[in-house]
Amino acid sequence: MSCVLLLIEAHSVSGQNQAVDSDPAEATVPFALPKSGPFTPSDIEIKNDQSITDWFRSAHADAAARAFSHWDGEEEINAVCATCHSGEGFRDFHGLDGTTAGSVEGPINTGGVVDCGTCHNAGLSEIKEVAFPSGLLHPVQGVEASCMTCHQGRTAGLTVSKAIGELDIDTPNPELRFINPHYATAAATWLGGYGGSGYHYDDKDYSGRFFHARPVSSCVSCHEPHTLEVAFEPCLTCHQANSPEEIRITRQSYDGSGDTNKGIRADIQANAATLMEMVKAYADDVADAPMIYDGTRYPYFFADANGDGVIDESEGRPAAYTSWTPRSLRAAYNWKLVTADPGNYAHNPPYMLELLYDSMEDLSVPLGTDMQALGVLR
Ligand code: HEC
Ligand code: HEC
Ligand code: HEC
Ligand code: HEC
Ligand code: HEC
Repeated sequence: MSCVLLLIEAHSVSGQNQAVDSDPAEATVPFALPKSGPFTPSDIEIKNDQSITDWFRSAHADAAARAFSHWDGEEEINAVCATCHSGEGFRDFHGLDGTTAGSVEGPINTGGVVDCGTCHNAGLSEIKEVAFPSGLLHPVQGVEASCMTCHQGRTAGLTVSKAIGELDIDTPNPELRFINPHYATAAATWLGGYGGSGYHYDDKDYSGRFFHARPVSSCVSCHEPHTLEVAFEPCLTCHQANSPEEIRITRQSYDGSGDTNKGIRADIQANAATLMEMVKAYADDVADAPMIYDGTRYPYFFADANGDGVIDESEGRPAAYTSWTPRSLRAAYNWKLVTADPGNYAHNPPYMLELLYDSMEDLSVPLGTDMQALGVLR
């Protein structure tokens, strides 16, 4: 491709030269270089060069990442996974390849990434709404249909409610398994209570979509769509901080530290850490079945029956935690949902803080923790 462009350019440059020199001998030599410069191929503009370079260096093009290489040992990507793990699967899901919309008919080849045609596709503008795991149909416009499809996670608070049903709240039940919201769940965070991704406790109200402010009200108004990076300068129109992580508007301290100079991200992280401690304390003291969290391997929560700090083994493999109660499961789910989004503080800080607070409050009942003494706020 670039080769063809170079030749065309060379031709037109040599053509110009002929007109000046009027040398008939030179005119018969196709693509001859002019006698004097400048002729630096690297200066010749190749269309889309910058977009391609930016995209190529981004996570979306990283074919070696686990998000794309997970299926390499298999013949194809399962239909349920392909929508978000390959451009081909995405087009199949939305019917952009001429197949039925709403399902992946497959088989989908391994080796795909989030390619150009995932976002640059005439059919994308025909997609008027994207379905979320909660059942919500959220109206979308243009390229947001793509971000919203893949960054919505795979579960909803409803998934948790259905699993725990009417089971006794504090009795461990081996039928209960950890419910993983999946990864990079930015769109789920962003839609907040309206998106229904978190487990919502009875009689509590939850903040909806984070409308933020007009210039930063869509995914690509903050994320450059090819590098995926967030430029910080535009934030400074409205915020005073040294980095996105340090941005704070609210004057109240949510984590009980009383420090309102640090970014809101620090409050969210502190409360997530407190919640994790409470989930573990509950496993020890109420469920009487200690657990160990290991963020590097699925399903993240493992059994440690004798409480010696070492993960138990079952048939030579780490033993998954199987002593969930409805109360610990919903708290751990909310914890994982909040921490599954590294941009949570910019995507929807109120919703994050609410889910963390309510989960802590729920665990505080059997633990006998004094929420007021803990100093955390909702
Ligand atoms: C709704 C979209 C969606 C669906 C459906 C989906 N994933 Fe993902 N998955 C993602 C996104 C987005 C990431 C990227 C997270 C990151 O690494 O930033 C991801 C990441 C992963 C990773 C890498 C995790 C890591 O620790 O780096 C694995 C493995 C994975 N998914 C497996 C699966 C499997 C298996 C299925 C089907 C059973 C599946 N996914 C279905 C969106 C999805
Ligand atoms: C994740 C979605 C996504 C992917 C993948 C993607 N683009 Fe884009 N691209 C966009 C969006 C959104 C815009 C519009 C940017 C704007 O309006 O500011 C855009 C704009 C462009 C432009 C116009 C110039 C610009 O930067 O605004 C070109 C050219 C382009 N893309 C080429 C490509 C090529 C080539 C690829 C693959 C190598 C690619 N894009 C992959 C979303 C994507
Ligand atoms: C077909 C599914 C798909 C679409 C469409 C998609 N993404 Fe992604 N996105 C992913 C996966 C998978 C990863 C993780 C890739 C990896 O681990 O290398 C990811 C990673 C990211 C990251 C993390 C970058 C990093 O450095 O870790 C950001 C930010 C992101 N996407 C934003 C967007 C935005 C904004 C859009 C819409 C313009 C979009 N994505 C559209 C699947 C998608
Ligand atoms: C107000 C600006 C803003 C908006 C709007 C926004 N983001 Fe983000 N996003 C951020 C910031 C800041 C981060 C954290 C810094 C970073 O990772 O670049 C982030 C992080 C992310 C990450 C994790 C990147 C990583 O490092 O793993 C993903 C994925 C993501 N955003 C996707 C999206 C999607 C999809 C949307 C639309 C639903 C969206 N974002 C809307 C500012 C924004
Ligand atoms: C046009 C003005 C404007 C711009 C630009 C802007 N913001 Fe904001 N930001 C606000 C407003 C207003 C709020 C309060 C919104 C609310 O609580 O509903 C806010 C709230 C926040 C919060 C939560 C602070 C807290 O204490 O709860 C974060 C984090 C944040 N913005 C990050 C960003 C980032 C990152 C950028 C740049 C990518 C950005 N903002 C750009 C106006 C802006």
